[in-house]
Amino acid sequence: MAFPITRPRRLRATPALRALVAETQVSCDDLIYPLFVDARARQPEEIAAMPGQYRWPVERLGDEARRLRDAGLRSVLLFGLPDWKDATGSSSWHDEGVVQRAIGAIKRAAPELVVMTDVCLCEYTDHGHCGVLDGEHVDNDTTLDLLARQALSHARAGADIVAPSDMMDGRVGALRAVLDREGYADTPILSYAAKYSSAFYGPFREAADSAPAFGDRRSYQMDPRNAREALREVDEDLAEGADMVMVKPALAYLDIIRQVRERIHVPLVAYNVSGEYSMVKVTSAAGFVDERAMVREVMTAIKRAGADLIITYHAPDVAQWIREGRWTD
Ligand code: PBG
Repeated sequence: MAFPITRPRRLRATPALRALVAETQVSCDDLIYPLFVDARARQPEEIAAMPGQYRWPVERLGDEARRLRDAGLRSVLLFGLPDWKDATGSSSWHDEGVVQRAIGAIKRAAPELVVMTDVCLCEYTDHGHCGVLDGEHVDNDTTLDLLARQALSHARAGADIVAPSDMMDGRVGALRAVLDREGYADTPILSYAAKYSSAFYGPFREAADSAPAFGDRRSYQMDPRNAREALREVDEDLAEGADMVMVKPALAYLDIIRQVRERIHVPLVAYNVSGEYSMVKVTSAAGFVDERAMVREVMTAIKRAGADLIITYHAPDVAQWIREGRWTD
């Protein structure tokens, strides 16, 4: 046997050659940064389960928005912690609600930031479920009107994109109909189309105070054993008018990202969720892994799988590493 003619190592020899043939790039343009806004906070409060992330008072959001914009980021995704909760989550569609006020504060401080809002009831209901209850059952169809009201009030407050995360059937169509009727035909919907019932949301539920008071979310979020069902969810949301679709979480679902990518022609978003973030933060703080290298690998993997955009708590760090020329080496 002659020595092999092909030698893949030829193109790996130097940083310049590696950069030349790199197939996957990560840019600030692709990152969406989640922000928690807390109606009761007076100071930014660090979230214990998510080191480096804070619950922000509305009054401090303007400065934070300018900081994010100046760091090179283009978009944020808002989650609200209201000052009161009830059975229907009615604090979520108030003109003066926490997210509504936050949108105004960000738009005044940094108008060029794209403001997306999470549309869901779990942060606003006293039982912590993503829809209204009929006994212990989460009732799909009565929830749709409430979600549409919330999305409309976000649009009125100036949200650029609304993102329903509740996983009720038919919510994209319900939101689209109300937005169109009320003069917001141009407000896009980013649907959390394939959202799995996941243990990786654990830290978020502490951050957003949104853990269900009883039971779990398996009667509305997807079963991690299913892949074909994700494609069906995506098809249905697109048919109902979704402008972009999401797969969530990201890392344990890269196969789903790839399959959805091959099927659709709209922007695909992946959510690098709280548990994925905290795993990196906690293990790197302990000195077990190199944080920057690990974040780079995570972001690259999600893009390589086929995501166009990544929602990630690492976004400000990534922006800084890119700016300082420390992202690729
Ligand atoms: C609200 C919502 C959740 C997340 C985003 N929107 C929590 C949940 O469904 O329980 C999770 C985000 C994360 O873990 O970073 N329904």
